Amino acid sequence: METGPITEAIGERPPFGPIRRLEHDELVAEQEATLASPRRSYSLSARALFTTMDVLYGKERTLEKFRVLELVARVPYQAWENVAYVAMTHTARRRGFARRVFDRVRTARWEQDNEQWHLLIMEELTAGERRGFVRSRIVPQVLAFAYYQLSWALYVVRPAWSYRLNSDFEDHAEHEYALFVAEHPEWEHVPYEGEFTADFGAFDSLADLFRQIGYDERLHKLESEHNMANPRFGDEISPAAS
Ligand SMILES: [Fe+2]
Ligand SMILES: [Fe+2]
Repeated sequence: METGPITEAIGERPPFGPIRRLEHDELVAEQEATLASPRRSYSLSARALFTTMDVLYGKERTLEKFRVLELVARVPYQAWENVAYVAMTHTARRRGFARRVFDRVRTARWEQDNEQWHLLIMEELTAGERRGFVRSRIVPQVLAFAYYQLSWALYVVRPAWSYRLNSDFEDHAEHEYALFVAEHPEWEHVPYEGEFTADFGAFDSLADLFRQIGYDERLHKLESEHNMANPRFGDEISPAAS
């Protein structure tokens, strides 16, 4: 199978190691692993967000709902990048610390980019749908803005709280994508021939494309869980990187 070029959307992710572009059999195995794994015990704020999305976009899993999810998914990484940049300004004289914070910034940027590719793909796949302007453009921006403020504030007060919220968000996304694929067996035979194969990789089917996105979400979750367990600001990233 022609896999297409591997670009920043998939490859390196310092210091956590690369997100790999998986082959079909691996993708199926990872989807099954997700379906067999229990969900995290979601925090109140995470549950409030998921309930809000259900109320606004319905309980049913749809492409449009995932598009909104991906729009919101980027903002914790933007918030962390913002806070870490301010911290670097004030701690630049403590070079070891500032360096660790800078590694944090780089990782947050990388994850933002990965989520951005997810969003572009979901935008592409929903481009033909008729959507109301308020529901499809304004409401997601309001949701993203509120979620940004919450992620930012939690990170300033206690980074572990912000990482916990994102772990919940990513765990939810990972499971929702796995279920979405399971609900659409017809997607096994629909090729993904979109604009972003050069950036995100070529996939034999829409099912495999969504399995890869779901697998990415798992790695985002693992990173946030790791940082949650290593909560001292500036020390959140892997000790191997310092
Ligand atoms: Fe995503
Ligand atoms: Fe994610």
